[in-house]
Amino acid sequence: MIRLHKVSKIYRPSKDVKVTALDNISIEIKPNEFVAILGKSGSGKSTLMYILGLLEKPSIGEVYINNKLASQMDDRKISSLRNETIGFIFQQFNLIPKLSIIQNIVLPAVYRPGNQHQKVLEYGQYLLSRFGIMDKQNAFPNQLSGGQQQRVAIARALVNKPEIIIADEPTGNLDTKTGVQIMDLLGEIHRQEKKTIILVTHDQQIARRAKRQLFLEDGCLIKQ
Ligand SMILES: Nc1ncnc2c1ncn2[C@@H]1O[C@H](COP(=O)(O)OP(=O)(O)OP(=O)(O)O)[C@@H](O)[C@H]1O
Ligand SMILES: [Mg+2]
Repeated sequence: MIRLHKVSKIYRPSKDVKVTALDNISIEIKPNEFVAILGKSGSGKSTLMYILGLLEKPSIGEVYINNKLASQMDDRKISSLRNETIGFIFQQFNLIPKLSIIQNIVLPAVYRPGNQHQKVLEYGQYLLSRFGIMDKQNAFPNQLSGGQQQRVAIARALVNKPEIIIADEPTGNLDTKTGVQIMDLLGEIHRQEKKTIILVTHDQQIARRAKRQLFLEDGCLIKQ
């Protein structure tokens, strides 16, 4: 469960410029919800995702993950909480070019004790075969199509078995047909694995798959 209490995020790119990217946002996202965050470019969607995903701290307000006050933790605690509970999928896939596909997938699990590495590897391979790209495990990211790279990124997001998946425009770099396949895969993960999915999009068609839609406008939550 994620809860934001009166969260604002204010950027000060220079001395006399102040950008209120998020303005007094309170929301609760329950386990196994499928939520879409919608809004125009610049409305604060990515900022909200970074805060929900513990990648950034709010300027004001509190962030709770499973009733733990994450916004007050030190950075080391935040990263381990993030690593255990949240998986990320980005528009640009963000795979590491010099690592093979399977190395990319197991990367979030490297900090785990050595005796777990074999298990993690097997789980990564299971995900690859489930996503239909087992034959690519030793290939490199630039040898894969966009849709295949996004499947790899989804496998990487799942490798630590997080409760929550946060996806920022996961279909933004894909053609319509491939985008639909990626959304089908996320829907399947939501239903079968009971993950909480938080999806950022500006595409109404994509957002319709979510059971709940949050609308942002100029950093304010206008509908939830
Ligand atoms: N690091 C930063 N420094 C200064 N301003 C920022 C920073 N990050 C975001 N902003 C500003 O905060 C506002 C919200 O940005 P955000 O990236 O969250 O929008 P978005 O809804 O994700 O847009 P898009 O659909 O284009 O991705 C924008 O006005 C943006 O310029
Ligand atoms: Mg964005």
